[in-house]
Amino acid sequence: MPAEHASTAVLINGQRHAPEQATVSVFDRGFQYGDGVFETLAVVAGQVRDRDAHLDRLARGATLLGIPEPDRDALSAEIAQLAAAGEGNAVIKVLYSRGVGGRGLAPPAEPAPTRVVMRLPWPAHPPDWRESGVRTMTCRTRQASGAALDGRIKSMNQLNHIVARMEWRDPAIAEGLLCDEAGRVVEGTVSNLFVVIGGRLLTPDLSGAGLPGVTRGRVMALAAERCGGVAEADLTAADLAGAEEVFLTNSLIGIWPVREHDGRALAAPGPVTLELQQALEGSYA
Ligand SMILES: Cc1ncc(COP(=O)(O)O)c(C=O)c1O
Repeated sequence: MPAEHASTAVLINGQRHAPEQATVSVFDRGFQYGDGVFETLAVVAGQVRDRDAHLDRLARGATLLGIPEPDRDALSAEIAQLAAAGEGNAVIKVLYSRGVGGRGLAPPAEPAPTRVVMRLPWPAHPPDWRESGVRTMTCRTRQASGAALDGRIKSMNQLNHIVARMEWRDPAIAEGLLCDEAGRVVEGTVSNLFVVIGGRLLTPDLSGAGLPGVTRGRVMALAAERCGGVAEADLTAADLAGAEEVFLTNSLIGIWPVREHDGRALAAPGPVTLELQQALEGSYA
């Protein structure tokens, strides 16, 4: 068990376990095939951020996979229980698999899903990443597109993005961006992307592939109020190379300005990024 999990609190189907005893069956299809969905939520100053949006996405993903919808009241109560289980900021992770199954791929006719909720330590990113920006690179690994689901649900099977994440070991690189087979930039390994080009705020169109992030949705709503909106567009590496501002979003990082992409320096945070960073923080109050 990694040392960082020593203080982890885990609920499996509502039952609390010490981290070293928090185990699920080897026959669980989440373990066997990545047959399930998950969510990562931030707890900041005791408040769970965007719980309903995360539970909506979890339920949508489960439904798309034909897994019975999770018990929303139970999950909400479990998230609240773990959010109150310690001091300071924390991460709540929810995993929801199809449960135990037989040997083959065909799902059991009457699945009994496995529901796990855990509280994990807040990630120790350098604080200046939020203030002064991060370095990013383009991954060689392509985003799966045109295939079933296309990474549009937050599936427990993250192999595509794991392979992309294995492309760099330099701790100074914060994130890698994935393009689809047609060369369109889709998203980061764990984040969504926004750019300012010619004064316009743009984000990749995710109708083909990519995960529509909860934070992406929040930032798009804020941009509609404050920055003349955001257009969903096909963006290439060349577009990125000409961008005035680039930033990343996810539920834990909020907004990270990008100060260098593929070795090219960018002003970070640029004015649009800064305005949306402030608006995003204010929007949780
Ligand atoms: C591939 C991918 N895209 C985007 C995101 C951002 O999603 P959210 O804002 O819901 O955290 C994530 C989050 O982990 C992700 O894994």
